[in-house]
Amino acid sequence: MTQSNRPFRSVLYIPGSKERALDKARTLPADAIIFDLEDAVAPDAKDAARATLRDEIDKGGYGKRARLVRINGFDTPWGNADVAAFRGADIDGILLPKVNSALDIETLAEMISDVPIWAMMETAAGILNAREIAAHPRLAGIVMGTNDLVKELGARPGPDRAEIQTALQWSVIAARADGVCIVDGVYNAFKDEEGLRRECQQGRDLGFDGKTLIHPAQIAIANEVFAPGEEELALARRQIAAFEEAQASGQGVAVVDGKIVENLHVATAKALIAKAEAIAAMAEG
Ligand code: COA
Ligand code: MG
Repeated sequence: MTQSNRPFRSVLYIPGSKERALDKARTLPADAIIFDLEDAVAPDAKDAARATLRDEIDKGGYGKRARLVRINGFDTPWGNADVAAFRGADIDGILLPKVNSALDIETLAEMISDVPIWAMMETAAGILNAREIAAHPRLAGIVMGTNDLVKELGARPGPDRAEIQTALQWSVIAARADGVCIVDGVYNAFKDEEGLRRECQQGRDLGFDGKTLIHPAQIAIANEVFAPGEEELALARRQIAAFEEAQASGQGVAVVDGKIVENLHVATAKALIAKAEAIAAMAEG
């Protein structure tokens, strides 16, 4: 699967230090995994986690799940060793935390070739520079770091995330301007299914491709919310058929359920069907 048609509905963080969780992930229905060496790993466990993780990735068994490794930043004692340890590893990307500008992406790009780079969007400077970050030629995706962002802004987390709406929307705009993937931040209360569902729906409606998750119990809800629904797909198929019929009789537009269907709606309908097909391919194991 290429990056562009790969589903990123459910993106599960796994601390690189937790062997049991690293193994469990081989059977979990997440579209992607972020193997974490940064904030989920304590300072005195960094070196061991890095070695454990490289071993587990070399063992394989993660199937079609996209594999991203979140390294420590270059302003820490571990960033350089993290990059060095994953040279030549079978991964789909390196995720750089606390990206402030395109220069940070360039620093990583010069250290390692041939690996797509992902950026954590979680600092005030990063949000302001979202456009140049997304536009870096090696940048393949963006992950919102909403906990760090709230902290950096000195904001107070509210029920509908009003305090970070501007940052979320600005980041989606930047990602779309350069055609890169973008995944929403985590929902901390991992036992609150209704709250998670609401936040997934909010992220989906803002344009995100999926949600980062912290616990396996969150996967099914994200997979469901970020997948095209049966009704949506049925409408898409009717729009495509109606448009083709209209064109065959010399019309430029069609009408379905009392609403106009133009070229652009057909493009959206086809993209939706392609997404459903990519998801089905994912499930084929
Ligand atoms: N990925 C894969 N497996 C996970 C997992 C994860 N993120 N979180 C938990 N599991 C596994 C556990 O290993 C356990 O497996 P087992 O049944 O084989 O023993 C099972 O799921 C149930 O776990 P549970 O006991 O409910 O969770 P916990 O109390 O051990 O851990 C957290 C809760 C939040 C600490 C843990 O889920 C976690 O570390 N999440 C990731 C945090 C992270 O990476 N943060 C950084 C980015 S915000
Ligand atoms: Mg963070």
